[in-house]
Formats: sequence, C-alpha cells, structure tokens
Amino acid sequence: MSSLSQRPPAPVVGASVPHEGAALHVTGHALYTDDLVGRMPGALHAYPVQSTHAHARILEVRTAPALEIPGVVVVLTADDVPGVNDAGAKHDEPLFPVDEIMFFGQAVCWVLGESLEAARQGAAAVEIECAELPALVTVPEAIAAESFHGVRPTMRRGDLDAGFAEADHIVEGEFEFAGQEHFYLETQASLAHIDENGQVFIQCSTQHPTETQDIVSHVLAIPAHEVTVQCLRMGGGFGGKEMQPHGYAAVAALGAKRTGRPVRVRLTRTQDMTMTGKRHGFHSSWRAGFTNEGLLTALDVTLTADGGWSLDLSEPVLARAMCHVDNAYWIPNIAVHGRIAQCHKTSQTAFRGFGGPQGMLVIEEILGRAAPRFGVPARELRRRNFYRDGQTTPYGQPVRHAQRLGAAWDQLLDRAEVERREGEIARFNREHAHARRSLALTPVKFGISFNLTAFNQGGALVLIYKDGSVLITHGGTEMGQGLHTKMLQVAATALGVPLETVRLAPTRTDKVPNTSATAASSGSDLNGGAVKDACEQISERLAGVAATLLGVPAPDVRFADGVVFGLGTTETLTWAEVVRAAYLQRVQLSASGFYRTEGLYWDATVMQGEPFKYFAYGVAATEVEVNRFDGSYRTLRVDIVHDVGDSLSPLIDIGQIEGGFVQGAGWLTLEDLRWDTGEGPRRGRLATQAASTYKLPSFSEMPDTFNVSLLEQAHEEGAVYGSKAVGEPPLMLAFSVREAIRQAVAAFGPESASPTLASPATPEAVFWAIESVAPRTP
Ligand code: MTE
Ligand code: MOS
Repeated sequence: MSSLSQRPPAPVVGASVPHEGAALHVTGHALYTDDLVGRMPGALHAYPVQSTHAHARILEVRTAPALEIPGVVVVLTADDVPGVNDAGAKHDEPLFPVDEIMFFGQAVCWVLGESLEAARQGAAAVEIECAELPALVTVPEAIAAESFHGVRPTMRRGDLDAGFAEADHIVEGEFEFAGQEHFYLETQASLAHIDENGQVFIQCSTQHPTETQDIVSHVLAIPAHEVTVQCLRMGGGFGGKEMQPHGYAAVAALGAKRTGRPVRVRLTRTQDMTMTGKRHGFHSSWRAGFTNEGLLTALDVTLTADGGWSLDLSEPVLARAMCHVDNAYWIPNIAVHGRIAQCHKTSQTAFRGFGGPQGMLVIEEILGRAAPRFGVPARELRRRNFYRDGQTTPYGQPVRHAQRLGAAWDQLLDRAEVERREGEIARFNREHAHARRSLALTPVKFGISFNLTAFNQGGALVLIYKDGSVLITHGGTEMGQGLHTKMLQVAATALGVPLETVRLAPTRTDKVPNTSATAASSGSDLNGGAVKDACEQISERLAGVAATLLGVPAPDVRFADGVVFGLGTTETLTWAEVVRAAYLQRVQLSASGFYRTEGLYWDATVMQGEPFKYFAYGVAATEVEVNRFDGSYRTLRVDIVHDVGDSLSPLIDIGQIEGGFVQGAGWLTLEDLRWDTGEGPRRGRLATQAASTYKLPSFSEMPDTFNVSLLEQAHEEGAVYGSKAVGEPPLMLAFSVREAIRQAVAAFGPESASPTLASPATPEAVFWAIESVAPRTP
C-alpha cells in the first residue's frame, strides 16, 4: 500500500474540475429531498403546531378540532410514540413536549393532512392550554439567574498570577456577540415511507445520516437495521443539519408507521428560523496582560455560550471555542473558563467553525482593542504574538508548521501590496472629511479533527463492475462543499483510471454503516482515507492479475489513466481488460474501506490532549471604507492566502474559501438576530423570521476586488494525498473585515482611539462606534 499522503504521477486529485453537481445545480435538475415527494403517490403533509410562549406549563392539548377539518388525517402527539419521546442525542429534547414548553415556536404536536393546506388548517385548529412561566431570553439574564446546563470546564496552562505580575499593561473587558442563522437555501426536509419489507426508509436532508437513523430507531423502538436513511444532497447544511434534522425525520417516520403512507416534513423558511438552532451567540469577559512590546503574558477569560433550551451540541461547541481562544497566538499563562447558558430560545447548534469562530473572535477583539496602546499597527501586534515552532497550545498540542503562518503572512503583505496601500489610505483619509479607509490583516489557525476521538473514522464501499466501470459510496454527505467531487477524484487517483470511469451513488446508511457526521471539515480526510483504502485493496488484487498477463512482478504493475503496464516492459493492457480477466479468475471486485485518524487523544475532564491531526492556516487582508454620516461601509478589496495543503480540487477549494469568507463577513457585519426581549405576550419570540428582516450578504456586499490564493508548498504529511480540510477555516478570515471597520472608525478619532464595536457591526453599530470616538459637535 502506498503512503496516505503521497501522490502517484499524473493524479486526478489536484486537477481543477467542476463540482460534480454543477450542471444539475444550474439547470435545476439536481434533486433535493423534497423534490422526491412528487415521486411518492399518496404522501401526507405534516404541519407543526407551534407554541406562542417562551416558557409555559402545558395544561391540555386539544386535537379534536383539527380532525374536523377536511383532509386532516391524524394529529401526532406524544401518545403515538412507541419508543423514546426524544429527538436529541442528549435525551433532553422531547420530540413532543408533554409538560413544559421551552421556547417560543416549539412544535408541540404535528398534523398530517392530505394536502399541506389541510395540515396547516388543522394545526391552526389545535388548542393548547398552558400556564405561562418566567422566561430567560438573553445570556445576561441567564447568567444573573445562574441558569446553566451541561459541563463547566476550565482549561489552564502556566501561572496566571506570575503572568499578570510580568505584564506592563493589563486590559480588561466584556464582549457579547450575536449568533447566526444558517439560512441554508433548502430548509429542513424529510420524507419517510415503509417499504415492502416493512423497513422504514427515510430520505432526509441530513449531515449525519447515522444519527438520524439512531434517533428514528429510538423513537419507533425498532432496531437500526429496520431503518435506512438516505441523503441525496443538501441545499446547504453549514452545521445546521448535523443534529437538527433528527426530530423532523422522526416525525415523518412516526407518521409513516402510524398511517402506512409516505409522510413529508418540510419546514417553511419562517418555521425553520423559529424552530431550529443557530450559531451560539457568546458572552465573554476577559483580562489580558501584555509587555511593553505588546507580547501577551497572561489571559484569564470566561466564555458563556448561549445554549438555548436544550444541550444539543453546545458542549462540544464550547470545547472547540475554548480550544481556539488562542487563535494563532502564544499565550504563556492562561485560564479559560467555559459555561453554557440555558435560555428559553431555540437550541443553538453547530455552525461552520463549531465554536472556533466564537473563541477566536474574543482574542481578535482583545488585540484589536489593545493595539492603540502600543503605538504599533494592529497587524504588527498580531504578528509579534504568532506561535513559533516548538510552542504548544493551552491544551498541550504542539503547533506543528507554525512557520507556515508567518510565511503566509509575508506572502500576503507582498501580494496585497500592504505598505503601498497603507500610504494611499493615509492620503485618502487626510483628503476626506467624512470617510475613512483602513486595511486590516488577521490570521487563522484552526484545528482539524473532531475533539471527540471516536468520531474520527470513515467508511466507504467501492464496487467495480465487469465492464470496468466503478461505483463508489462513502459515509459523507454532500451539502455543496464538493465532497463528492473530491471523493471521485480520490477514487480515480487511487485506481489509476480517468475521472469519467467513476460514478458516485447517494449516501445511505445501508451502504456504509456507523458513519460520523459530515462536519468538523473532516469529510474529505475521513472518507477520502476510506475510499483510498477500498480502492487500494482492489488495486492490489488487480495488480496480481495484471502481473501474470504482463509477465512482471506484481509490485511493478502500474495503473494510470485507464492503462495498466509493467515497469520495464512496453506491453500495456486497458483497465477494462484487467477487470474482465480478474472477474473470470473469480477475483473479488468490490471492497469496503475504512480509515481512522491516528495519534489523536483528548481528555475532556482536564481539557488537555492532542485532539487535532493538524492545523489549517490562513491569512486575510481586507480594506474597507466607512461613511461618517450613516455608518455604512464598503469592502473595497480582500486578499487571502489560505493553506489547504496540496489541494485535492483547487476550484472547489477556492469556492470554499470565498464562500466561507463571505459567510463569516455576514455573521460579523450584517446578520442581526433579534429576539423580543421585552415583557409582554411576545417575549422570547424571534423577531427576525425571514429574509425581509434578517439581512444576508448579497452581491452588493461582495468586495470590489477579491483575490484568493492557495498557500504554495503546503504538502501535509499523513493526510489524504497531502491535502488539508477547507470547509470551515476560511469563515474566520472575515475577522479582517471587522478589524478593518474598527480601524476605520478609530481613524475618525484621536490617535489613541480604541473604539468598541458591536457584533454584528451593522451600519447602525458602526455609526454609534464613530460617535464614541468622534462625537458630533452640537
Ligand atoms: N459549503 C457549502 N457549499 N455548503 C455547506 O453547507 N458546510 C460547511 C463547509 N462548507 C457547507 C460548506 C461546514 S459547516 C462544514 S463542517 C464542511 O463544509 C463539511 O464538509 P467537509 O467536511 O466535506 O468539508
Ligand atoms: Mo460543520 S459546523 O462542522 O457542520
């Protein structure tokens, strides 16, 4: 077997190929879960009955009036559940709440109808009687009430007191920042039916088919082998379909069991926004020590995540936040305290970066605020604090390849012409009374692998048919990120055949079992390792067959581009000839592959270990222009150098970097989740329930100039074909937008101005930040 990271000559990986679904996406032929309803005659439609209180005791649920509506078939309630009435992996998430309503918009029961309209009318007819209870809506309210759930870990390194004693400057602050709605284009969707064997078959828009299968099997009290989950593709997941789909799949499956008919659940946008979890907003308080040169000596920080009503993934999200509070910086003495506020809101969940962005935002806030004290540009303060080789993170992991970050930074200074442009910016600012420009650079260091070691495994199934055509399935799901494209390239490379020889079948739990979520950006690491393993098992067998035909020893057989040859001979065979010969000799032409990431270790009780296989690095330089009158801003130019190792698929990777950056900029500058926090009947209601009130990035917010390049000579030893994960890390490059805005705001004030800036830094927030450093003269 060849090494995991080494590439053969003329590999298919590394080629810039279009996304495997691109033509289907742009022509509208790509099928998503809900598109399959039309192929399922007699499907019933499900509609939720949503609560209108943030917190209440349920006294009575009257479903009878719904059954009088024509077309209503049944109302599903807790009484229908044969197994466990729970939709979460933590067993704190009743599928149908029976005693207590925990957030405004929570589904109490579900109406099934012949049409969506019948189900909707039925849902409107259900009467829920309840007694209102006091609700906690904001994190500060939850902190004051000491309402926390789950673990409360601390991570420590060094001696905090000594670190502060050494410090020439001590900076303290508090910073609360908002979460983010996933706004995947395809809302949550599930379609369940019972097949001719009595098997439950669920088509589901899920990043985690195995866990969807587990939850459905618990709810229905049947073993996992009676439940199959398939995911064709998702119209975006972004973490919002890692754990959130399970309950909807369970409702569809339960309905199908109950009625014997197919059942479709698809949320409207407003249902999706009011019912499903989001990125966790955080509250942070911190105290940091610096030397006169601006080197960090100590950091004491408390991170409080807004967990919402149930735990969901809040504990691992918090752990990742704590593991990223250092970002790219060496902090010799540090204590990080974490806790999860329980609020009466949607249960916050995974979202691209999985807590990493929240942890990193805090240290970038600290550095951005502190920089003016040291009389150096913020970018210089950042650079001085970078990790150096040999140093370790606060949780004890060596920072391998730390020098890559410095290399990327220097490349960026050069490519983005930073010094020249800083001169131009200074001139622009002198010449304009009511506008300021600024250019900020920020780094990203992001750990790749699931913190929980067990999740770092992947599986695949590779089938070769007698005609030489290849069909692969793997345990990962496609959500637009290009995983399937990469897996096709990996298989073609490992087998030595052209890309067209390989086809991919949809992800299903009856093809590859016990899969991990496609998450933590590790989809191609884990499934790529497994696909490669399966292909190599078959190649080895085929090499034996070809060796005899070519008259060379098996180790001298080579497969490349559909041609099979032996070293030192001129004779060649085609791939199809060798496959055919193997079949006739009764050589097995299929294999299941497996991969697990070696060398990982994590002790969650002390928050120490080496949880990550490697770090992905990136740097961004962003220039903005801010308007004095209304706080509006424009992103003029963005330059990025990002480390994807040796890219498996450069077009896909550049798309991920651009998309991640823009999604991060949306989180930090535009997307403003507002809950009704006042007393009154709407307390706890999400006020931003649709695109009309929730501003997403669009064309008008794109940078005028957007230059993305991949870090060169970045081969990653020990990862599939030398590549690195790319899905999440680029989101955090958007800190450069926030910091550029902060610096531009500061440029309206005196030299020492250090404005606080809300997050998201909406134009309104920017306006008030300008006011704080340069109040208008009356
Ligand atoms: N890109 C697109 N287009 N759509 C998505 O939903 N999800 C992101 C990222 N990129 C996402 C995406 C998230 S949250 C993760 S964890 C990774 O893709 C998951 O896929 P990967 O492990 O294959 O990178
Ligand atoms: Mo991504 S948040 O790990 O699904």
